[in-house]
Amino acid sequence: MCGIVGYIGSREPKNILLDGLKNLEYRGYDSAGIALKNNNQVQVIRGLGRISCLEEKINNMDVIKANMGIAHTRWATHGEPNEANAHPHTSGMVTLVHNGIIENFSEIKEKLIKTGVVFKSDTDSEVLAALINYYYDNDPVLAIEKAIKDVKGSYALGIIFADQDKLFAVRKDLPLIIGYGEKEFFIASDISAIIKYTNKYSLLDENEIAVLDFDGIVVTKAGKKIEKEILVTDLKAEDREKNGYEHYMLKEIMEEPIVLEKTLKPFIDDFFKIPDLSDYEEIHIVACGSAMYAGMVGKTLLEENSNIRVMCEVASEYRYKKVLYDRKTIVIVISQSGETADTIAAMRKAKENGVETLAIVNVKGSTIARESDKQIYIEAGPEIAVATTKAYILQVAVMALLACRVANESKIVDELKKLPRLLREVIDRRDIYLKIAKDIYKRDDIFFIGRKIDYAISLEGSLKLKEISYIHSEAYQAGELKHGTISLIDKGTPVFAIITDEDIMDKTISNVCEVKARGAKVIVVSNVENDVGDYLILVPKVSSFLQSILVVPCLQLIAYEVAKLKGCDIDKPKNLAKSVTVE
Ligand code: G6P
Repeated sequence: MCGIVGYIGSREPKNILLDGLKNLEYRGYDSAGIALKNNNQVQVIRGLGRISCLEEKINNMDVIKANMGIAHTRWATHGEPNEANAHPHTSGMVTLVHNGIIENFSEIKEKLIKTGVVFKSDTDSEVLAALINYYYDNDPVLAIEKAIKDVKGSYALGIIFADQDKLFAVRKDLPLIIGYGEKEFFIASDISAIIKYTNKYSLLDENEIAVLDFDGIVVTKAGKKIEKEILVTDLKAEDREKNGYEHYMLKEIMEEPIVLEKTLKPFIDDFFKIPDLSDYEEIHIVACGSAMYAGMVGKTLLEENSNIRVMCEVASEYRYKKVLYDRKTIVIVISQSGETADTIAAMRKAKENGVETLAIVNVKGSTIARESDKQIYIEAGPEIAVATTKAYILQVAVMALLACRVANESKIVDELKKLPRLLREVIDRRDIYLKIAKDIYKRDDIFFIGRKIDYAISLEGSLKLKEISYIHSEAYQAGELKHGTISLIDKGTPVFAIITDEDIMDKTISNVCEVKARGAKVIVVSNVENDVGDYLILVPKVSSFLQSILVVPCLQLIAYEVAKLKGCDIDKPKNLAKSVTVE
């Protein structure tokens, strides 16, 4: 998490950096700061809270005329969010911004304290600044090289030295790019930060050191010059605009039919382009958060429609648990960002064990996209709201395609063609979602129940609601609720019942009756007309492979309306970040 942007060139860096930070705010937003430098002066300005607070502070003070700078938006790991812990950190000649975690920072800190260093923050990042300063003797690259040899952990760093008219960058395990403009150069956590100024960039590889000056960028590794491939992104600055929507989340839900069509198109044109997993004896699906819940939908579909053993596991567990790779196995990793630390580690574990990896990923050029053996790209475009919506729908769609291919369901293509239109119908019924939201938003607890695939859908519905509205919510296999949690059901407790799987429908309806008997207010989401609940959200009935794609958007929109009624910060919920690059 945390976002980094840096600039060197003839323009005033202040606004370029603030602008870059705003585009990176999805990576963390508890504090922010910038360092500006001209020939002989470095000025550091930091503030608690959002980028807008930092901007206000900067606009109300005297700022030096500068020609380079680095900036950072933080998601706290070491040390609480306060001004002292905000980046940039300065130690002697060195000022830096850091994304990542230095695992052996206390050991290094102790050693540096013995040499007389006095620390002003609780962060591991300040320790890194002090370590580089300790090694600095007029050769910045050497000092960086020596320092990174001593540290264990992950880092993306933007560094300035008080007596150098250059900007430095290095990374390990976390993303950092260098950008090429007209006589101006950039570093950034991702291209979105600098897209307004350039579409040309290179990906820095592990421990390559980039030196940016006013004439260009030189990249070296262990003293050797590296020729970097220059990439051109097709992302446009306007792709990141809100386009009149009140929130990115709403905009992104409304984009679902378009991005679904785009993602499905190659497979509608040629069904056999979908990778065939039928030769594998075992499939492991590994991901975090909503991506994992998309994997749960996939697991159910693959299991129901093949004889392959399928396991779906949270990446932070999978990476550390004992996993038997004794059958012909493929590991599917699902990640919107392609940079989630635990998912990367899980993928690497599979690779180290000689197991093939297939990534379902949105961001091209991301670590997961680059390191996986095969990739299926979802065409979500930029997703800015922290709570994922359109990317989740596309992850589910790809999992459904994989299951269709295993089951040889090529006739699904006809339904795939209709799906975006049906999805549009579902998301256009905002009146019913608002009506339900008004009825439930004051409640403290909300439950979701379902069986099999409907349980997988419930998990995502519940997560979406709690992460943006802060209402306590849990999802249960419908039959399991009575083994404890039903004691929490009181008069009026909202319970969402997802009922789309016909084979098990009657069983879930019995469970609805159980909670109704205890006073629950039941909201049924189903593809079959019924009157078992207090509300019925009726979605068009489609093939079981695709049904969840028409159900989850209803839950996303209800979560959105509930959070809005509660006055929550929908696009940036508290304590969260979109790209979780620490474990
Ligand atoms: C964070 C986000 C979630 C997302 C998860 C995995 O927790 O808030 O919305 O599902 O990370 O992210 P990924 O980029 O790997 O899909």
